[in-house]
Amino acid sequence: MKFFVDTADIDEIRDLAATGMLDGVTTNPSLIAKSGRNMLDVIAEICDAVPGPVSAEVTATDVETMLAEANVLSAVAKNVAVKVPLTPDGLKTCRAMRDRDIMVNVTLCFSASQAILAAKAGATFVSPFVGRLDDMGLRGLDLIEDIVDIYDQYPDFETEVLVASIRGPAHVVEAARTGAHVATLPPNVIRQLYKHPLTDSGLAAFLKDWEATGQSILEQAGQRKDAAA
Ligand code: E4P
Repeated sequence: MKFFVDTADIDEIRDLAATGMLDGVTTNPSLIAKSGRNMLDVIAEICDAVPGPVSAEVTATDVETMLAEANVLSAVAKNVAVKVPLTPDGLKTCRAMRDRDIMVNVTLCFSASQAILAAKAGATFVSPFVGRLDDMGLRGLDLIEDIVDIYDQYPDFETEVLVASIRGPAHVVEAARTGAHVATLPPNVIRQLYKHPLTDSGLAAFLKDWEATGQSILEQAGQRKDAAA
């Protein structure tokens, strides 16, 4: 499963990229607004920091302007995935960009029927939002299972299921169980994935016992090197 980070905060992205766990980045207009920065500058910096796909979302709603924005965004870097909303005009834009071999992430997907349309439009990624469905009292992960099952029936569908609106590690694990290709995670959720209280307490116990021996691996290595010289 690929991990994307869902943020436009370049410091967070650089920090997480250094872990070697990051396969891409997703942004949206709200995240760009939160960064307080010029969108094209931020997208260019992110594309430089992370070689994988970087989703940059159009903000128009009509196909002509969406295409004009998509052209600007895709010209920023080769790894930009133009993000379009799941609307008729968004899917027309998707088709046009895919015909030019530009990556497209179709976002704001809330139903299996929408996901079928995204695949037929040739989307590189479709982004179903699990957390926002959960917020409505539905089970967002049911939608992921449905989409993965449906796409599996059609080998000519090349669209990857990008699980979005993730709220915590349980969403990640359940999404992985469905076989979804990608999960986009807020930075705090990526950090939570590492955490387990038994890891912390186990490590503390090992270190306490080790300290009591007075030994040092590096000192011993130096001694062995000296002895061999
Ligand atoms: C995905 O690309 C979206 O940016 C994101 O996952 C939305 O998540 P939210 O529902 O937490 O805003």
